[in-house]
Amino acid sequence: MKNSIYKIVFSAILGLGALAPIATFATHYTSDQAVQSANLETKILQTLDADKMYDNIKYLSKTPRVAGTKQEDKAVAFIEKQFESYGYETEIQTFTFSDYTTPHTVELAVDRYSQKINPLPFEYSANGVVSAEVLPAGLGKAEELKSLDLKGKIALLQRGEISFLDKITNVIAKGAIGVIIYNNADGTILGSLGEENTAVVPAVLLTKAEGEALSGHLKKHPNSKASLKIEGAKTDSNTSHNVIATKKGDSEIGMKNSANDILVISSHHDSVAKAPGANDNASGTAMTLELARVLKNIPTSTEIRFITFGAEEVGLIGSTHYVEHLPKNEMSRIVANFNLDMVGSKDAGELILQTIDKKPNLVTDLAQEASEKLNGEPTPYNQGDSSDHVPFAKAGIPAALFIHNPAEPWYHTADDSIDKISKKKLQDVAEIVSIAVWNHVRMDKQEK
Ligand code: BES
Ligand code: ZN
Repeated sequence: MKNSIYKIVFSAILGLGALAPIATFATHYTSDQAVQSANLETKILQTLDADKMYDNIKYLSKTPRVAGTKQEDKAVAFIEKQFESYGYETEIQTFTFSDYTTPHTVELAVDRYSQKINPLPFEYSANGVVSAEVLPAGLGKAEELKSLDLKGKIALLQRGEISFLDKITNVIAKGAIGVIIYNNADGTILGSLGEENTAVVPAVLLTKAEGEALSGHLKKHPNSKASLKIEGAKTDSNTSHNVIATKKGDSEIGMKNSANDILVISSHHDSVAKAPGANDNASGTAMTLELARVLKNIPTSTEIRFITFGAEEVGLIGSTHYVEHLPKNEMSRIVANFNLDMVGSKDAGELILQTIDKKPNLVTDLAQEASEKLNGEPTPYNQGDSSDHVPFAKAGIPAALFIHNPAEPWYHTADDSIDKISKKKLQDVAEIVSIAVWNHVRMDKQEK
């Protein structure tokens, strides 16, 4: 927090430790509630403990926590134990995901063609060795292929209009045994076939320049043969977990419209390979734990779920699984997702909020109000779709990512270690998030 005037004023005016017993507070909507609420707010700010977050980051970042590994399991057990030590009932949601290993060998050789080619595999490219005539087949759209005989041939296609997988499927239907696709724009692309697919034949990607040069060669030398080799690709099935701790709301049903609402505070606990992931994302995980600890015995009008997701780094798998498997009635009850990812690096820039559409929503409004109150200025926001707020936002739930911008240079490297963590940054973000959440869940909030 940049200045603590707010904290001091409240402490001085209201005094501390004069909280009404929680049961009384929760059931009787009294005229004292505004005072009690301010008192609780002070209590929240004073209970937040950057040392606790730091210690949990230190523990979690002893090793990388790649989804599906024993190290992830160990982190999951630790997170569960922490939630339980604060008094929460915790659920572990287990899911599987596939993990594609890129081939160690990808080769393409064309007869009487000496120009350099650097073929790239697709994610989920199949292994295989084929040797056959290469036939240009346009964009690979079904209608273009009608009069082409691709039986036993390698199809040469251009990127565009339809997906890579659709192109490959279309030429396979015409008998092709291998596929070369070249880019329609400058630069290299990392193409994907989406998922493991046993029906596909060996397929590679070339740059625009490589593809055009090869097309030119085939015009001069039609019926040229090529050999295409892909070896070492494999798809493993892995298991990862989400850890969910739930704090039920304290409103009596009927007392408040919001009594049924659910607010989700989330982070991902997995890391990329070789990175201890102190900031990405032991920091968000430790902050989720700390917010759970601090809010445990504070009466709230709505339910709060604290979730750490697995397999974020593999493609937002845990959060997508969570959102896709929500019972319908719970989906409609979730009113906000506060997602914390990379919230404690000394070497990153200032806090920003990211939404997938760059538009404000309930979460950014609450966070801006909180940071204005705490620091005298609203937190800026921009567009971003690289973390677990995305599946919530896509499901129509107001969601935002809390992250420092620009990111630290060690992000996703072996240097993302505990020595780069700033307790002050952790404290500042935790204060903003806790006050933003509090302003929505406090019992005296006026409903429209
Ligand atoms: N914490 C990062 C996201 C991030 C990093 C956002 C730097 C903004 C600045 C996250 O864990 C991550 O690495 N996400 C992936 C995308 C995801 C869909 C696999 C990424 O950004 O590559
Ligand atoms: Zn991350």
